[in-house]
Amino acid sequence: MDPNEAARTLEQELERGRELIGAARTLEALDEAKIALLGRKAPISAVQSSIGSLPGDARRELGRRTNEAFAELRSALEARRSELEEGAEDELLRADAVDVTLPGRRPRPGSLHPLTLVQERMVEIFTRMGYRVAEGPEIEDEWHNFEALNIPPDHPARTMKDSLYVDVPGLLLRTETSAVQIRTMESQDPPVYVVVPGRVYRREAVDATHLSVFHQLECLAVDEGLSLADLKGTLEAFAHEMFGPQIQARITPDYFPFVEPGAQMAVSCFVCNGVGCRVCGNGWLEQGGAGMVHPNVLENCGYDAERYTGFAFGLGIERVAMVRYGVNDMRLLVEGDVRFLEQFEGVA
Ligand code: FA5
Repeated sequence: MDPNEAARTLEQELERGRELIGAARTLEALDEAKIALLGRKAPISAVQSSIGSLPGDARRELGRRTNEAFAELRSALEARRSELEEGAEDELLRADAVDVTLPGRRPRPGSLHPLTLVQERMVEIFTRMGYRVAEGPEIEDEWHNFEALNIPPDHPARTMKDSLYVDVPGLLLRTETSAVQIRTMESQDPPVYVVVPGRVYRREAVDATHLSVFHQLECLAVDEGLSLADLKGTLEAFAHEMFGPQIQARITPDYFPFVEPGAQMAVSCFVCNGVGCRVCGNGWLEQGGAGMVHPNVLENCGYDAERYTGFAFGLGIERVAMVRYGVNDMRLLVEGDVRFLEQFEGVA
């Protein structure tokens, strides 16, 4: 290349370099500019290759100027790179910035289910009276669920219509927690004072006061000299503790094969106060069955029915929850609707 042309090329490249470098807005654009200006195919590289063929002074002169041009372009590229890197970092910081003045998102704490609250309260009331908690299996055999409870094979409760049987002959889903009365008496000598909270299953149409899977709390007391007055006193004490003095408890005759005499416990309706309304019908809400343990049941468990007497009752936990919290449809208790459940946050 002619030395004059080479000198012109260097000038043009410096000019072009300033423009390209100044215009690079991103690190990628700057890399492209670097290749265009200093790469193998760049005009300045052609100038450099031509230096060797020039005579002495001209070679030195062009060599010096080429080196200066290289140095200027490199330092301009370096300076621009620092600027862009700094800008990229600022951009990143801006994008990642946290607004510490924004109010935080509160985690929503869960709370105990109303049925759990009621069951715990019931257990607490009875354990304070001196009862201990017992448990039994939900899949039960016919002896514990029926026979030992004085429910003969031809009793209607034993038909497929009312009970849910499992595939193993002789086993079913327990229909009442009374089955655990038998298991308890089989495993210990009197005196007995137990409460049994648990799930029970029935082939039953679901409505505002019935579910097919629900909960009961069974109570069994066997000792010397227990009478109907003890049963009545215990139920009244429970109702008073559970629902407060404004709710009245009532005991009326009823029939269950495993008690004699049998009774039903109801409390005055929380909606109409015992007058009669759509929720209760006649002013009273049935809470459970009760009675004096039938001598046959005591004998079935090896107890001396001449010496010992007992009382028992089974309360529906959902029914108790309805009265305690003023819930007029039992299905609300099992549907899991958060709008219903969140009302029980912080409730005792
Ligand atoms: C019994 O289950 C007896 N084992 C109670 C008993 C125990 C009597 C000890 C004598 C001695 P009953 O089927 O009535 O009885 O049920 C008792 C309570 O469970 C009812 O009062 C009611 O509160 C509740 N209950 C009964 N069926 C349902 C149902 N389908 N859904 C929700 N709760 C129910």
